Amino acid sequence: RLMRRNRLLEITTEAARYFYYQLTRTEQGKHALGYLDSRKVTEEFRRRFGLGYAPISRDGLYRFLQSKGYGDDEIRGAGLSNGGGEKVYDRFFNRLMFPIFDAQGRAIAFGGRVMGSGEPKYLNSPETEIFNKRKNLYGMQIAKKSRRGKILVVEGYMDVLSLHQAGFDNAVASLGTALTKEQALLMKKYVSDVVLIYDSDQAGTKAAQRAIPILEDTGLYVKVLRIPGYKDPDEFIKNKSREEFEALIQEALDPIDFEMVVLNSQTGADTVEGKVKTLKALAQRLSEISNPLERELHIRDVAQKMQVDEQSLKREVDEIQRMSG
Ligand code: UTP
Ligand code: MN
Ligand code: MN
Ligand code: MN
Ligand code: MN
Repeated sequence: RLMRRNRLLEITTEAARYFYYQLTRTEQGKHALGYLDSRKVTEEFRRRFGLGYAPISRDGLYRFLQSKGYGDDEIRGAGLSNGGGEKVYDRFFNRLMFPIFDAQGRAIAFGGRVMGSGEPKYLNSPETEIFNKRKNLYGMQIAKKSRRGKILVVEGYMDVLSLHQAGFDNAVASLGTALTKEQALLMKKYVSDVVLIYDSDQAGTKAAQRAIPILEDTGLYVKVLRIPGYKDPDEFIKNKSREEFEALIQEALDPIDFEMVVLNSQTGADTVEGKVKTLKALAQRLSEISNPLERELHIRDVAQKMQVDEQSLKREVDEIQRMSG
């Protein structure tokens, strides 16, 4: 078992080297280098994240790995090829490759981006004996050493790269899935504060709403940042500046305030019905704050912002608490 895992880890490491070579030393790779230029990724950060290129080839990687002594079953097991014998196909071709490292810095899987049109935009390694999506975060091998004292959770590979390049070496991404308990526990090993910075669309808002309780249940302090004017952190940082992003982080919202902003924009704060609905949902959230002092302070704050009587809101919260025992 351990032997097998080690073999697979060797294979993914060899594959990362192969993709890196294809990017930096071949004619085909030039196109991918151009793409990286267009997205303003510098050579330093391209290296730091081990980016590569999977060439247009049916079985180039497969034959390379075979020549290193690895067998069909192992290469398939590492998630890099499909089929067998005469009919082997590399999983990745003509894509910009992002190696995914575990927290110890071992390459365990890949994400590959099409350059131009094509579906899917990102193709990822399948789950393997060495790659469990739920347990890993893209960029963690670097973020864990950050001295910023908190972790920024973003959606995408490019967001992580851009933020690191702008000096935010504490950014990680959750690999295209909903944030998991395992990922929360992984972050908890290194920090106690997390800022969620998801894309500015409805999917991003939903993802943040789902992630909040998972992180809080792990004992992490959570803040939520909504990016104004741009669709994700990568675009913001490229059009604005490091300083403006730093300022945004300082203004990240407490989960309750985030919930209030979201609810107000969904149900509208200008009708009585909308406001009641929003207040009921907020009262529910407030009732879940176990520390009495913290609960009281949040109740006062919400009452002020929603322009309702603090005692009425408090009665509502108390009522919910009584009902839930
Ligand atoms: P996005 O669609 O927001 O892409 O997906 P992005 O990161 O902003 O990519 P660029 O800027 O267009 O290059 C966010 C993340 O969701 C996962 C990837 O991890 C991606 O970075 N994803 C997205 C996939 O795994 N497959 C897809 O087809 C799309
Ligand atoms: Mn998105
Ligand atoms: Mn993007
Ligand atoms: Mn995005
Ligand atoms: Mn709080």
